[in-house]
Amino acid sequence: MKIIVMETTEAFDRQGALIIMRQALKKPDSTFGLATGDTTRNMYALAAELHRELGVDYSLCKSCNLDEYAGVSAEDKRSCRYRINEVLLDKINIKPENTYVPNGLREPPEEELALFKEKIEKFGGIDLLILGIGTNGHIGFNEPGTPLDSSFRIAPISEKTRKEKAALFGGSELVPKFGISMGIRDIMMAREILLVAKGRAKAEAIRSIVHGPMTVDMPASVVRLHPDLVILIDKDAASLL
Ligand code: GLP
Repeated sequence: MKIIVMETTEAFDRQGALIIMRQALKKPDSTFGLATGDTTRNMYALAAELHRELGVDYSLCKSCNLDEYAGVSAEDKRSCRYRINEVLLDKINIKPENTYVPNGLREPPEEELALFKEKIEKFGGIDLLILGIGTNGHIGFNEPGTPLDSSFRIAPISEKTRKEKAALFGGSELVPKFGISMGIRDIMMAREILLVAKGRAKAEAIRSIVHGPMTVDMPASVVRLHPDLVILIDKDAASLL
C-alpha cells in the first residue's frame, strides 16, 4: 500500500486530479470507477480543467459509478448521476454511452443489479477505482456488517450515514433508505484503488485501513488486502496514523 499525505486541501485535490490524468495517459481506454461526494468534487473539477488545458484525451475511456441512491432520478440534482456529470463527465470528452451510473428508478431495483454487473464486465473491468469512505468506514453503500464477499446489492443506508448526507437532501429523513452499490468483492476486483479521504472525521477509518484490525464492522479495513492500493489523504485524515 502506498500512502500519500498532502499538506493542504488544494494539494490533495491536485494530486488526485494528476492521478486521474496519469491513468488516462497510461491506458487511453481505461475504465474508471467513480465515487461521488464532497471529497472527490474538487479533484474531478481539476481533472476536467487539466483536460481542457492540456488536452488529456478521454475519448476511449469508460466510467462506472460506485453507487446511486435508490429512488432518485438521474435528473435530480442530488443523484450521483447528476453530480458526476456536472463536475466531470460533461466536462471531458468521454462518450456518454461509455459512462454508467446505476439507475435509481429501475423497478424492481434488483433488476438494476444484473445490468450493473454486465456493464462493468462489458467495460473490461475497472482499471482505477476512486473510492471515498464514510466516517464509519463504509465504502460505496457497504455499511458496517456487510459481508466481505458481497456483490452488487441494494444496500440499506445506516442512520449515521443518512445524518451525514442530510445537507445534500435537506434533512436526514429525506435521505433515501437504500443505495444501489457495488459490493465489497466488486470493489476489491478493481485493478487499482485510489482511496481518498479528507478531514479529522475520517481519521479513525483511515487508521483502521493502515493498522487494522480487519473487521466487517469497518468495511474499509479490508481494502488493505488489495495488491494495488494508493491512499490519498490530507493531514487531518492522517492524524491517527
Ligand atoms: C457516500 C457514498 C460513497 C462516498 C461517501 C463519502 O456514502 N455512497 O460512495 O464515498 O459518501 O462521501 P463524502 O466524500 O461526501 O464524505
